[in-house]
Amino acid sequence: MQLPQTPSFRLEGRRALITGASRGIGLGAACALAQAGAQVVLAARSADELEAVCDALHLAGHQATAMTLDVSDTDAVQKSITAAGPFDILINNAGVNRPGPMVDMSPADFDTVMNVNVRAAYFVAQSVLRQMIEAGRGGSIINTSSQMGHVGGIDRTVYCASKFAIEGITRSLAIEVGEHNIRVNTVCPTFIATPLTEKTLADPERVAWITSKIKLGRIGQIEDVMGAFVFLASDAASLITGTSLLVDGGWTAG
Ligand SMILES: NC(=O)c1ccc[n+]([C@@H]2O[C@H](COP(=O)([O-])OP(=O)(O)OC[C@H]3O[C@@H](n4cnc5c(N)ncnc54)[C@H](OP(=O)(O)O)[C@@H]3O)[C@@H](O)[C@H]2O)c1
Repeated sequence: MQLPQTPSFRLEGRRALITGASRGIGLGAACALAQAGAQVVLAARSADELEAVCDALHLAGHQATAMTLDVSDTDAVQKSITAAGPFDILINNAGVNRPGPMVDMSPADFDTVMNVNVRAAYFVAQSVLRQMIEAGRGGSIINTSSQMGHVGGIDRTVYCASKFAIEGITRSLAIEVGEHNIRVNTVCPTFIATPLTEKTLADPERVAWITSKIKLGRIGQIEDVMGAFVFLASDAASLITGTSLLVDGGWTAG
């Protein structure tokens, strides 16, 4: 009897672009993909931080290149990605937050969040996609969304708007590019300890709210999210598109 074989979780021979890879979840995603065998290109604005990560990846025997890029600069995005592509995998991860009550939110805060989390993510994906389609090898686009793309949260009207938008883009794009064997999904973390959440996680009242909602009773660490990126990037997820992988410790379970 011939037994079915699990498709590979390995990523040898694949080229991956990870935005927001200088720290936090993007740094974790870049390491996860490199450790799974992919050649990784790490994008962010902080050249020194990117170089330090690439040096550490090289020391560990992985293939990594830095791409200094402000993802909100659409011309630079188009130029840099076209020069470095084609890519088989995109981790569209760069993101910001301006938490606060709606009554205090300024137009500048609103624009900053929407500009990076939605507009930049849209045009990064567009640049990667054009070459991905032309290369004809299929591919996997993974948008870092959030549990806040599925539920509301305290002080998060703008952030939730941006992540619900990413969920909509993901589903519509999955419909559009399925015929090219390009899969489009989101990874939706709960609160993960990174520089982005440092201020929120320093507030005992907020921490009490967060740990009461996470059924596993603890704040996430970067390592908790790494496997989700590898899975969705790999052949093990070859029939998964237009959906969300919630890494939320049970927050949205009820
Ligand atoms: N941490 C959480 O609890 C959590 C939960 C759910 C979802 N998320 C999402 O996960 C993603 C990463 O969050 P994180 O917690 O890792 O944040 P972080 O620690 O603040 O890191 C953000 C990353 O995005 C990059 N970035 C920000 N603006 C950029 C720009 N204009 N151009 C290029 N790169 C830019 C930063 O690099 P430079 O500053 O060097 O440019 C950095 O590498 C975001 O999309 C966030 O919304 C986070």
